[in-house]
Amino acid sequence: MIGTVSRWALFAGLLAAVGAVTFRLLVLRRFPGFGPPSEGDASVDPAALAARIGRLALLAVALGALGRLAAEVAVFRDPFEPLWAEIRLLVTRTSWGRAWIAQITATAISAFAFTLASRPGRVAEPGWVLATAGVVLLAYTPALSGHATGAEHYVTAAISADVFHVAAGGVWLGTLAVMAGVLHLGRRHGAVVSRTRLVDWITAFSPLALGSAAVIGATGLFGAWLHLGAVSSLWTEPYGRRLSLKLLVLLVVIGCGAYNWKRSPDRVRASGEPARLPPTVALELGAALALLLVTAVLTVTPPPAHE
Ligand code: HEM
Repeated sequence: MIGTVSRWALFAGLLAAVGAVTFRLLVLRRFPGFGPPSEGDASVDPAALAARIGRLALLAVALGALGRLAAEVAVFRDPFEPLWAEIRLLVTRTSWGRAWIAQITATAISAFAFTLASRPGRVAEPGWVLATAGVVLLAYTPALSGHATGAEHYVTAAISADVFHVAAGGVWLGTLAVMAGVLHLGRRHGAVVSRTRLVDWITAFSPLALGSAAVIGATGLFGAWLHLGAVSSLWTEPYGRRLSLKLLVLLVVIGCGAYNWKRSPDRVRASGEPARLPPTVALELGAALALLLVTAVLTVTPPPAHE
């Protein structure tokens, strides 16, 4: 249980951290600020709010990583060995442990970088550069301790596909979550986004989400092909049944995503000020969290093709 919740928190935090960087680099760079007419507090910077959300996301990653360590130790615990000696052995002498150290290191670097990025003044820009590097490194780490490394064939391709799969998930759903979070935090700090600016953000985000969906589909299918062994495993094997469940939940995410892509600019234009995202965005993000929960179970289910 603790392992599942930890991986879930880790995936959700990782996707949101990728989203914070993407929102800053690919959305806010084109459309900075909350936009005219600036009602409320013009000093509130959406980039700084995105950095704060990024830092919070890394807290979830750190807690997830610690929980994964606790779960791993619980499985292999030898009651006759001192606990610290066992943890040291696990972390320093196994490939799982080395991937874990890389994950914690990338998390610490990115958290520091997001802290810089959230500050006003000249430290913010180097903060974003470092945060980008840290998050790229972090996106690499799940693949290093997952099924991709244990694939029968094409291990390098499997690891690369896994990294792109996770990163694209962050560019799509992480960026959407961060956009929603920035609007929420902005309101709390007295800054109100204009309708025009919110439509700008959605317009900049939509092609990113579409491109990411294509990458997720291609890399996901490749992973499924590597791990399933046969199509019939989708209903005959526990791994396949969990993957099928993931795909069912994905239908909800895609359905909401398609609706939001087609309809949200018009709905924002037609709404009053302050501008808000339509409620279907919350539904899309909720379904994405459910999808990540299924993924958290899937990643520890033995894949039929590896047996
Ligand atoms: C919104 C869409 C999706 C998101 C956010 C998502 C997210 C993830 C994440 C975070 C992982 C864990 C990576 C790791 O631990 O290394 C993963 C693994 C995986 N995903 Fe997805 N995924 C999505 C869609 C899909 C689709 C469409 C497919 C299949 C067609 C798919 C198939 C897989 C497979 C086979 C794995 C490997 C699981 C394992 O390690 O055994 N995913 N996904």
